[in-house]
Amino acid sequence: MAEGPTIGFSPFSMPSAGVLIVFCDDALKLGPATRGLLGPAAALVARAAAADRFKGKSGSALDLMVPGNLKVARLVVLGCGKPADMKRKDFVKLGGIAMGKVPSGATAATVVAELPNKAMTIEQTTALALGMRLRAYTFDRYKTKRKEEDEAPRGLKVDIGVADPAHTRAAWNARGTLADAVVLTRDLINEPANVLYPAEFARRATALKRLGVAVDVLDVPAMKRLGMNALLGVGQGSAHDSRLVLMRWNGAKRDAPPLAFIGKGVCFDTGGISIKPAANMEDMKGDMAGAACVVGLMHALAGRKAKVNAIGAIGLVENMPDGKAQRPGDIVTTMAGQTIEIINTDAEGRLVLADVLHYVASKYKPKFMIDLATLTGAIMVALGQQYAGLFCNDDKLAERLAKAGEASGERVWRMPLGPEYDKMIDSKFADMKNTGGRWGGAITAAQLLARFVGKTPWAHLDIAGTALGSPQTETNKSWSAGWGVQLLDRLVEDYYER
Ligand code: BES
Ligand code: MN
Ligand code: ZN
Repeated sequence: MAEGPTIGFSPFSMPSAGVLIVFCDDALKLGPATRGLLGPAAALVARAAAADRFKGKSGSALDLMVPGNLKVARLVVLGCGKPADMKRKDFVKLGGIAMGKVPSGATAATVVAELPNKAMTIEQTTALALGMRLRAYTFDRYKTKRKEEDEAPRGLKVDIGVADPAHTRAAWNARGTLADAVVLTRDLINEPANVLYPAEFARRATALKRLGVAVDVLDVPAMKRLGMNALLGVGQGSAHDSRLVLMRWNGAKRDAPPLAFIGKGVCFDTGGISIKPAANMEDMKGDMAGAACVVGLMHALAGRKAKVNAIGAIGLVENMPDGKAQRPGDIVTTMAGQTIEIINTDAEGRLVLADVLHYVASKYKPKFMIDLATLTGAIMVALGQQYAGLFCNDDKLAERLAKAGEASGERVWRMPLGPEYDKMIDSKFADMKNTGGRWGGAITAAQLLARFVGKTPWAHLDIAGTALGSPQTETNKSWSAGWGVQLLDRLVEDYYER
């Protein structure tokens, strides 16, 4: 894991070296503690702002090198626009911008967590710290020579000046684990498939035991006994055996029905016998992003001791062409008893999920199930990379997910389900087939999943567009943003912990 910066909290005080980061509004106003610390240098800020046409707009920055009477090497003033309008996610972004202003190689940075009218609240401050951690992330463990310009801040100590250090520290002890969780998810997705195959992924998920998560790993014979032939069929052409990992966090009353999160964990997707073209196939090391998100979420929930019961279930396979591989035309009997004709071995994610969804629904009787899967290229055609596709059989759950998406910045867009689409996957030879033709590819994939959820409230998130080759933002400079961890952590906190 890339060593992130260490973050500490102290009373407002003037550092004697490194970078100092402070905030202003769009009237260039600084807070009282900030003005007190800067002394005569506060006047310098006004002059530099005029010279640089800096207006304090949200997202803008003013850089002052070797500022006058101060001992620090650099003073950065970040604009907040109208601070009263800022939501939690804006503070996360602000933290990202702040970290972006710390030069590579710097060992000390001090942030004055104060808005022009008042000190930041503890919630705002921990959001800021989260953004700093996320921005500092790089996946560079396989680089034996590092270029200075793409070097992540290493051995960097960030000191955040706050009004109430003790309570902020306590809040960060719980909240900071969300940063660890997103980093864990990003690491899993970025890891190449020669390193991260199903058994190794299962080992890494098992490390959650350290946080009090119960973890069970089912191997191939165990899944055979359960009749999970759809999942096993996908993995049968690989030299790496499949696994099913079940994680459980108990933070509420024993008998409270759990929330269930299910992830597609295709550690590498060659397409199988219906092999993919060579161009960009390397991206398919990330076809386990749904599973990685579930592991990250379990880490986040356990890390902050969420008052909820939660199940995480991830189906881990590798989709390879081989003498033993599944063929187009093969028919598999799922654990649910329904049969599926394989038309295209590259439509493998839905086969894995069919068995895991049925297993979770029947074994745990969850309050709801949410699955995450890099399921279709079609969802990228429909929504691009800004929204994940949301398919849902429950309007209340859909609305909550949409709201949590807006609040966290990891947004979802609802897509339709319906009998006309469902018909498209009826098969000549079996109960259904695993592709529904060219049109509405993300929808027909979701329809297959819908046949395995029964009456359980369920949402499917197609994250093929958001989870891989993620857009570069102020809080993500990595190939994988670790999409979904913040969304689901917010969903649970806002609606399911009472
Ligand atoms: N893992 C892919 C979908 C994918 C594509 C994810 C690009 C991320 C980036 C999935 O298993 C797949 O191959 N889907 C096929 C389904 C088709 C064969 C019906 C697709 O979308 O082309
Ligand atoms: Mn595929
Ligand atoms: Zn796939």
